[in-house]
Amino acid sequence: MIREDEVRNIVGKMREPFLHRPLGELDAVKEVKVKPEKRHVSVKIALAKTGTAEQMGIQQEIVSVLKEAGAETVGLRFEELPEETLAKFSQPAPESETLLNRKNPPVFLAVASGKGGVGKSTVSVNLAISLARLGKKVGLIDADIYGFSVPDMMGITVRPTVEGEKLLPVERFGVKVMSMGFFVEENAPVVWRGPMLGKMLNNFFHEVDWGEVDYIVLDLPPGTGDVALDVHTMLPSSKEIIVTTPHPTAAFVAARAGSMAIKTDHEVVGVIENMAYYESAKTGEKEFVFGQGGGDKLAEELQVPLLGRIPLKQPDWDKDQFAPSVYDRSHPIGEIYMGIAQKVIEKTAE
Ligand SMILES: Nc1ncnc2c1ncn2[C@@H]1O[C@H](COP(=O)(O)OP(=O)(O)OP(=O)(O)O)[C@@H](O)[C@H]1O
Ligand SMILES: [Mg+2]
Repeated sequence: MIREDEVRNIVGKMREPFLHRPLGELDAVKEVKVKPEKRHVSVKIALAKTGTAEQMGIQQEIVSVLKEAGAETVGLRFEELPEETLAKFSQPAPESETLLNRKNPPVFLAVASGKGGVGKSTVSVNLAISLARLGKKVGLIDADIYGFSVPDMMGITVRPTVEGEKLLPVERFGVKVMSMGFFVEENAPVVWRGPMLGKMLNNFFHEVDWGEVDYIVLDLPPGTGDVALDVHTMLPSSKEIIVTTPHPTAAFVAARAGSMAIKTDHEVVGVIENMAYYESAKTGEKEFVFGQGGGDKLAEELQVPLLGRIPLKQPDWDKDQFAPSVYDRSHPIGEIYMGIAQKVIEKTAE
């Protein structure tokens, strides 16, 4: 008949189903009794969790190995492993890879401005598309949670799909897009309260399957408020592009966004002057309808380059690919954006 130490030995080599360690190593073989006259073995085992399918599994295994070793009947009792053992041997669940913790994180490019309506979203969309046109893998996060506009600007009518536990962003013009707009019913007012803002943004970083990406462009809400601040704290290594109109006061306000970036150690890549002038289609003459010099002034103040000057002009409307704010590659403004994207790539290459 099998001896007590043999039982300990056999059972001790079996693996605990939750911690995946030998029961012996976990000091989980609590009691062994052998009654040779009845060919009976009884064992008490500690597991991380009792009353589980895993317990059923190991129960059957123990009974069968002990019967093989000569026992006629096997009695089994279970208890739970002490906290200290669990703490010592539990491995933290492997953290799934996200945008922020991956080995080759993308370059984050936050597009900011001091005030609203200067063209941040238009710039974000067209910069993202131009980077994609230059062969980069690009994601675009519409971080303007109240005033989301990216889906409409790009003519996106579908919503993200769910795959497993992750959301797949919508892809258009070669850019993967995520926006708060995808989560709101048509024209419903958005009434998120403060903490929701940061949470939503966090989900865009953690719950979305971005795949391989070189750049993530973030369209920030106007100003230097909550969300802008969240982005700053959430993305310690984000780079920024500041958009301004040519009016000196606009540049003055934009400088605040710039100093917020600098205070949080975000490198400002450069300044874009939008609505820089109006060029007459008839005479080619430039009219500086919103003033002049704001972009240069801001660039000088922040000691960064002026990446481009974008005149006032609407995109050509394409009935087949309706996207009201996207400039074609061959549109004069589309070409300016290609130049800006090129500079951004050069500036962020190191
Ligand atoms: N260069 C341009 N030429 C003509 N229209 C432009 C130009 N840039 C932006 N616009 C228009 O100006 C308006 C404001 O632009 P946009 O929405 O991009 O600004 P924003 O800074 O993102 O605004 P908000 O602060 O509200 O988010 C839009 O209607 C847009 O189509
Ligand atoms: Mg906007």
